[in-house]
Amino acid sequence: MSHRRAFLKQLAAVAGASSVGALLAVDRALAADAARVRGGLPPGAQSDVYTVDPGVIYLNHGSIGTIPRAVQQAHRSYLELCETNPWLYMWGDTWEETREAVRAKAAQLLRCEAGEVALTHNTTEGFNILAQGLPLGRGDEVLFSSLNHPGASICWRHQAEQRGFSVRQFDFPVRDVARLTLDDVLDLHDRHISANTRVLVFPHVDNIVGLRHPMRELAALARERGVAFVAVDGAQTVGMLPVNLAASDVDFYAASPHKWVQAPKGTGLLFVKRAVQAALRPMWVTWGQERWAGTVRVFEDYGTRNLPEVIALGDAVDFQASLGEEAKASRYRALWQGWRRAVDNAAHTEWRSPRSWELSASLFAVEVKGVESTDLFARMNREHGFVFRPFRTHGLNTVRISPNLATSDMERELFLGRSAAVARSS
Ligand SMILES: Cc1ncc(COP(=O)(O)O)c(C=O)c1O
Repeated sequence: MSHRRAFLKQLAAVAGASSVGALLAVDRALAADAARVRGGLPPGAQSDVYTVDPGVIYLNHGSIGTIPRAVQQAHRSYLELCETNPWLYMWGDTWEETREAVRAKAAQLLRCEAGEVALTHNTTEGFNILAQGLPLGRGDEVLFSSLNHPGASICWRHQAEQRGFSVRQFDFPVRDVARLTLDDVLDLHDRHISANTRVLVFPHVDNIVGLRHPMRELAALARERGVAFVAVDGAQTVGMLPVNLAASDVDFYAASPHKWVQAPKGTGLLFVKRAVQAALRPMWVTWGQERWAGTVRVFEDYGTRNLPEVIALGDAVDFQASLGEEAKASRYRALWQGWRRAVDNAAHTEWRSPRSWELSASLFAVEVKGVESTDLFARMNREHGFVFRPFRTHGLNTVRISPNLATSDMERELFLGRSAAVARSS
């Protein structure tokens, strides 16, 4: 928790002993909670670490994450501290070093340089910055598949109208995704890249079937085909799976830590590769532009912002880091395997996502046969407190399940049991 230690030292000079004491208590709580999650939460222990209502079965971390109690406590402490002297914390330099420590933490998470990470509010903001600021014009094409999320798609269409570039979306064979191989995914993109394609956009993990796109290979393919910019949507990846931007030739990578990093709502990251920073025109412009000229901060500096949540993002990143990246990935893999086997074995369900872990994530589509997924969700939510996401787009009739490390096998069995009952009664 080094960024917090530096912060505490600084703080001791300006704040009262009780503020420092409160923040030290946060440190202890973070370490204790991380140790509990690392050890695998026994059934029922979830409510010690998280604050999800015991009547809720939360299988929707893909929409919005749950936040560990200790990260909430850290966030509250920063808010309270800020309100002891708002001017000092918002406009003094007290949190300057801490904010930069958060950026460095985020860079470690993404495996890139701190000078390549802008602290935004979400993935949608990241893509708006790109759609507005990249040097594109007549004859240039932005390409993505139908698996691309609206948050990474609509901004391009909006800007295209004004700036004259074009946007092309190709159909992804979503219903066949269980049969696709890594080479199929590459071939599909290869077939659609044209001589006009200047920007290729794809989700690292999409939000419908959870296909983990081969980021490194797709970026290499795009380069080979002469694409100028590769922009990746990491909303469903960062915090769940290891990300290595240093090893992938992508230019931009946008993320929403309020999902899998379990950070406060409204915290985002945008990786802008150093070599392309000068080509990207900032979307927000204010006095900071001069002060931060030539740094990644020109993509985030637009006056007053909620610093307590930005600082708490650092605690969330620390919390995730202390779980161990590889250990976490292997637990997510085991979780995915457990669900896939159980869904395959149940007569009333069908797996509608990739079947190899290398192309998968802890986010997958399940069809409950003979039931409209929207009706299934309405009933299971109303009667049993389940939270998941139904999809009736892309020719699918599926529910999206996105469990996190705290999701128990018992919750999986409850989902299968309750959905079987709904299927029988439909
Ligand atoms: C793949 C993907 N991209 C982008 C977004 C948009 O995220 P945000 O609302 O945090 O910008 C989401 C949200 O669910 C998503 O799943």
